[in-house]
Amino acid sequence: MKFQWPENTSEVFSTEIITCQHDGHESEHFTDEGLADLLDRYPRDEMGIYKFPEHAEGKVKAIHGKAENLTGAELLEAVKRGQIWLNLRAVNNHLEEFEAIKQQLFSQLDDAASISSMKQDVGVLISSPNIHVHYHLDIPFVCLVQVRGEKTVSLYPAEPPFATASQIEAVVLKEQEEEMSFQHSFDKHVTALEMKPGMAVTWPQNAPHRVQNGDMLNVSLSCEYMTTSGLLRANAMYTNGVMRRSMGIDSSLPAKNGLGVVFKAVIARFIKIFKKTVEQKHTPITFEIDKETLLAKDIS
Ligand SMILES: [Fe+2]
Repeated sequence: MKFQWPENTSEVFSTEIITCQHDGHESEHFTDEGLADLLDRYPRDEMGIYKFPEHAEGKVKAIHGKAENLTGAELLEAVKRGQIWLNLRAVNNHLEEFEAIKQQLFSQLDDAASISSMKQDVGVLISSPNIHVHYHLDIPFVCLVQVRGEKTVSLYPAEPPFATASQIEAVVLKEQEEEMSFQHSFDKHVTALEMKPGMAVTWPQNAPHRVQNGDMLNVSLSCEYMTTSGLLRANAMYTNGVMRRSMGIDSSLPAKNGLGVVFKAVIARFIKIFKKTVEQKHTPITFEIDKETLLAKDIS
């Protein structure tokens, strides 16, 4: 897979949205046959199967489902017909060909951005025509690689009021999943990217975003990674979150990492060692995809 990151990638990395062209959409992995095979081989119990309510103000939560007895081809057909979003996380840990894609992608991104990325993984998102993925943010950096279909990725600045320090901390502390509270007024500050097969994008860490699919099946690679400074910030946010919750101290991180950020990141390591396992609030499974109709059936 070949990427053509712009010349100035290293200058604007982590502060600006960067798009580029790639040739991954030409791969046989993403034909109907390739996807059905992928869906057969990826462990079904690790697959994230979701629906999303309509785009609206406030917090919109994903609805969690399962698809136990369907073949890969049936599951792909269900996605084409329905309103389903499949997240095959860290495919590179399960299938060799995606480990190769991971290495190609990150070696080129590292060179272009002058970074040494870490905690890299490649996920595959297979989603229905017209589905809308709610307003949320991701703690790691993300490189989204579009391979089939068209979608609009709406990106917002990684700062208040789009994402407050307290909200980001809640995601870092795993008090909630990644959804955030949206207001229509945010759209005055949106950068809307029309993603087509052969396009890729990476954006500043923690930038909130939402995604509207066009009227066709969509397939994207969601590639997450960290940099040294990104990891420091995530750990310092963890400490800030603990301080806010246990001592009422309201602090946010400076734009650039300094000694304070490093100090807080070190403290986070100690807190994590001594803290008991955090209980993550996963949404319960409330629908399943029916093998006969290939439609989502309520089981709540
Ligand atoms: Fe995301």
